[in-house]
Amino acid sequence: MTTILVTGGTGHLGRDLVDRLVRDGHRVRVFARSPRRDSRVEWAIGDLATGEGLQPALKDVDTVINAATFSPIARRGGIRPVDFFKSPSAVDVEGTERLLALCHEANIRHFLHVSIVGLDEASLPYGRVKLAGEQLVRESSLPWSVVRAMPFYYLLENMLAGLAWLPVWPVPKTLFNPVDTSDAADYLVQCAFDGARGMRPEIGGPEDFSLAEFSRQYQRARGINRPILPLPLSAHAARGMGFVVSNGVRGKLAWSCWLNQRLAAIKQAA
Ligand SMILES: NC(=O)c1ccc[n+]([C@@H]2O[C@H](COP(=O)([O-])OP(=O)(O)OC[C@H]3O[C@@H](n4cnc5c(N)ncnc54)[C@H](OP(=O)(O)O)[C@@H]3O)[C@@H](O)[C@H]2O)c1
Repeated sequence: MTTILVTGGTGHLGRDLVDRLVRDGHRVRVFARSPRRDSRVEWAIGDLATGEGLQPALKDVDTVINAATFSPIARRGGIRPVDFFKSPSAVDVEGTERLLALCHEANIRHFLHVSIVGLDEASLPYGRVKLAGEQLVRESSLPWSVVRAMPFYYLLENMLAGLAWLPVWPVPKTLFNPVDTSDAADYLVQCAFDGARGMRPEIGGPEDFSLAEFSRQYQRARGINRPILPLPLSAHAARGMGFVVSNGVRGKLAWSCWLNQRLAAIKQAA
């Protein structure tokens, strides 16, 4: 049996990926800065930002799913002024470059890289960092695939939770279709093993709504009642901030269902 290495396997998407790979009977190794209590997988400890632990992590590996990232916005769950000026590249660019070079040496048969829908030079700095990482993969002579995904529901929830203190919520009215990590993980696992390579159809959620509508549904589900002020955004600004509608594959889980599932999980954990 071959081994699949998942970078970022402790993250939101990575945990769903690992669950599916284990469920399907694959041997999974997770590359992480610190191990978690999960004996279903092998743990390879290291750091993409320094390269520590990467070479041994690739021993006997056939497929790499690169789902690691360092996004200050996702980590804190909100955008700050600094995010319009800079974003660290040590994991997503230098780390990806290091990983690709070692994958060459290790004769990896498939390098599957997770990226973001709509990236271009007009993206915010984090998006440009992700684009630079994606370009390294696309220029690589390894057998590679890139899957671009829309923003994940967990991030949308964190961003909306950060608006709770505002008496009025000013939000863009551009349409977009965020997706759950469960749907993205289902699709990525399919892409890992279906034999196709290159730029794969992107994955988005089932509903094209404005952030105003996503906010309304969020408020209803959380018992919040604030006026919502839909703001027009230029097409350029909207694209730069990731407010686009994806082409390609659609996930199944609707935002309102995800919100109910989350609430049930929070209540159960309490
Ligand atoms: N979030 C979104 O809305 C969204 C949308 C589209 C695509 N994506 C892409 O989907 C992928 C997963 O995103 P996510 O939101 O699930 O990410 P996440 O929850 O922020 O998880 C990031 C993962 O990367 C790992 N990581 C960070 N720095 C590292 C380092 N120096 N060395 C090794 N591992 C490191 C983290 O490990 P630790 O546990 O050690 O921190 C964690 O496992 C990324 O490629 C992202 O760009 C995300």
